[in-house]
Amino acid sequence: MTSRYVLSIDQGTTSTRAMVFDRNGRLAGMGQREHRQIFPRPGWVEHDAAQIWANTRRVIPQALADLGISVADVAAVGVASQRETFVLWERDSGRPVCPAIVWQDTRSQLIVDRLLDDPGADFFRSRAGIPPAAYFTAPRLSWLMETHPDLRVRALRGELLMGTMETWLIWNLTGGPDGGVHVTDVTNASRTLLMNLKTLDWDPDLLEFFDVPEAILPRIVPSSKVVGTAVGGLAGVPVAAAVGDQQGALFGQTCFDAGEVKCTYGTGAFLLMNTGADIVTSTHGMLPTVAYQLADGSKAYALEGSIAVAGGLVQWVRDGLGLIESAPQIETLARTVDDSGGCVVVPAFTGLFSPYWSSSARGVISGLTSFVTAGHLARAVLESCAWQTNDVVEAMAADAGVPLKSLRVDGGMTSNHLLMQLVADVLDVSVVRPTSSETVSLGAAYLAGLAVGYWPDVHVLRRNWHRAGQWDPQLRSELREQQRAAWRAAIVRTLDVRG
Ligand SMILES: Nc1ncnc2c1ncn2[C@@H]1O[C@H](COP(=O)(O)OP(=O)(O)OP(=O)(O)O)[C@@H](O)[C@H]1O
Ligand SMILES: [Mg+2]
Repeated sequence: MTSRYVLSIDQGTTSTRAMVFDRNGRLAGMGQREHRQIFPRPGWVEHDAAQIWANTRRVIPQALADLGISVADVAAVGVASQRETFVLWERDSGRPVCPAIVWQDTRSQLIVDRLLDDPGADFFRSRAGIPPAAYFTAPRLSWLMETHPDLRVRALRGELLMGTMETWLIWNLTGGPDGGVHVTDVTNASRTLLMNLKTLDWDPDLLEFFDVPEAILPRIVPSSKVVGTAVGGLAGVPVAAAVGDQQGALFGQTCFDAGEVKCTYGTGAFLLMNTGADIVTSTHGMLPTVAYQLADGSKAYALEGSIAVAGGLVQWVRDGLGLIESAPQIETLARTVDDSGGCVVVPAFTGLFSPYWSSSARGVISGLTSFVTAGHLARAVLESCAWQTNDVVEAMAADAGVPLKSLRVDGGMTSNHLLMQLVADVLDVSVVRPTSSETVSLGAAYLAGLAVGYWPDVHVLRRNWHRAGQWDPQLRSELREQQRAAWRAAIVRTLDVRG
């Protein structure tokens, strides 16, 4: 057998990508398709799971054709996905019975408020590791079952299956109604608020509390393990990995040791620190989560700082304000000035995630004077990304008890050199970017390749990591402290504004 490549699917919030990697971890071919963002009401965000599966079926042959290879050249496939988004579908037909309700959706906030009151956050923290938030799956699943009692009846009858996006894709890839494998991996399961973070199994107390019929839940498996064989366009290829996109990026960055940290800048920004075999509990608004589990059962945990809006703010400057025509133009515009002219932007569009966890916070633009131009605003947009990162880094250091030495970055926004410099300046540590910015896909490919022996062990993977860019701090400390004070003041205003 001369299988020379590993395929990975990155089912993201805005698009689905298929990527082919070679043994050196180099991206050799890809296909990509965007899907519809559905906003039925303020605060509601939905995807069409059928469209996502249709897109996946199309991007796979695109990626293979891009490189000119056939299915026989694919050793394994791994699936990375947006996390927390879920859908319910009919076991017999594969037809979704509801829209996929997306991680950004806040419709379950009233349920969350109720849970925070009684039984309180600690009930959930002591089991799932995380507090209730609209961000996680279970409150949105509760909302769905409360609003559509017919779905609960059908679920209890065993007619329905539930899954996050990797579950949905793997079930379809392996045959759907005709023998599809119904699994989720430990990293995705750790974001549902239904899995026990210690046992890595569905937690009976949480299932009972959320009144989730166990029959609809997938089986929890390691992130790296052959769970089935694909049919259709990938017929015969082992389905060998599943991982949440952010944990995939941590793995793709080869952050295998405790203390290693990466930050991925996409629609949101997510900073994860590997904490090894230990669960590190947070008192500073970080989320303990599973980093990965390998086929031999060995596992690593992580602490995560989640920033809801990063590249999403640049999209808003493009689509909402019309100040730029494409995302990269924000850098050109920001370079027309030397600083933000006193302007500060906090993009709390649907509240603030780490470390504040306020659902009622709303965005502010502060320090406006007639001196401020579009250039200053563009610069403030990029600075907000750097200061949000700093808030997370400081909270993470307080939880972990060690300061950050340098930051590995990846994701679409890291092509913005000015942003990378601003992050180094604000954090006062070096920022380092590897040759592959597609670390989400690379991580899923690594996990799949390890499961089938395409790569023998994680040590080999480290050799594939090469530095492509580095930015060192240049900002004078008085200026940093001035900016910090302005940022703090703007955050206070953000938390005061009730939406
Ligand atoms: N040069 C740039 N400067 C600033 N922002 C950029 C630049 N290029 C892309 N972006 C932003 O980065 C984001 C795209 O990055 P990426 O493709 O990594 O997103 P993603 O998070 O993986 O998408 P998904 O949410 O679908 O997973 C967009 O929000 C875009 O506005
Ligand atoms: Mg992504």
